[in-house]
Amino acid sequence: MDMRRDPAPAPAAQEAPPSRAQAIAQVAAYLNDSGVEATQAQDDARALLRAAAGLSRLELAMSPQAPISDEEADRLSRLAARRAAREPVSRILGERGFWTLDLVVSPHVLDPRADTETLVETTLALVDKSDAPLAILDLGAGSGAITCALLSELPMAHAVAVDLSPFACAATAENLARCGLSDRATVVRGRWGESLAGPFDVIVSNPPYVRAGDIPALDPEVRLYDPALALDGGRDGLACYREIVSDLSRLLKPDGLVAFEVGCDQAVSVASLLGAKGFAIARVGRDAGGHERVVAARPA
Ligand SMILES: C[S@@+](CC[C@H](N)C(=O)[O-])C[C@H]1O[C@@H](n2cnc3c(N)ncnc32)[C@H](O)[C@@H]1O
Repeated sequence: MDMRRDPAPAPAAQEAPPSRAQAIAQVAAYLNDSGVEATQAQDDARALLRAAAGLSRLELAMSPQAPISDEEADRLSRLAARRAAREPVSRILGERGFWTLDLVVSPHVLDPRADTETLVETTLALVDKSDAPLAILDLGAGSGAITCALLSELPMAHAVAVDLSPFACAATAENLARCGLSDRATVVRGRWGESLAGPFDVIVSNPPYVRAGDIPALDPEVRLYDPALALDGGRDGLACYREIVSDLSRLLKPDGLVAFEVGCDQAVSVASLLGAKGFAIARVGRDAGGHERVVAARPA
């Protein structure tokens, strides 16, 4: 897609450069033709134009009719071509807003999702101790999104963030530093909690939960760009929950809280795994679409 004017127009018929609003509309139509859903295509086109032109949200909102330069048009064309190949905007730009934070999204970690804010929200509602020196454990930290969000809201808390992937450990450390939270967190490379002693006040986890057989049918943005280690939950999607739940009583304080993100149809199964290990469900959290996406429990 070439957003520029004719490179050598006849003087009398010089074509006006497109305005920011026109460029957004053109890119949105191009992305929509490439398979990106219409509303998403609009949002993505706006984000790419802002990146190409170095504009804040406010600057774009104040002057949507300003023309774009040829250099901006070139940059926008390149960014749009990547998005049309279904690379997510957060990966193209290398960052994503999560909770109140701007996080770096490195290529080899899960792109943190808005859905995961439900896990943060549910956990904060249940701990309700913003001035307590809580010990938090985040199993499968990825970009460190959950750890960073919880620490940003709980100023006396300390967290241990664990991931099997060295890329995820590096990304978590980078985001902790970016958010000014490194002094209250320890990043550990390992398999779930196996190298840790605990006990922790709060254990949170968004483990891989996609059924292995469902992975080939995921959207290209997920299938091609999120790492398999972050997605694959085994044959029934529950393998990681089983592993983590079997070690919870060792790692969690008797009055502690565990909170899991779950796939759309997994809340009942995860609640029953927890029930079988002596946990009582404290809350089931719903995402913006009303789906049960978080199961929180305490030792019964
Ligand atoms: C669904 S991602 C969640 C990432 C991040 N917490 C978030 O919510 O955006 C799951 C994470 O678990 C990690 N993981 C997978 N198997 C693991 C294991 N056995 N032990 C520790 N971490 C593991 C993956 O590397 C990945 O970063």
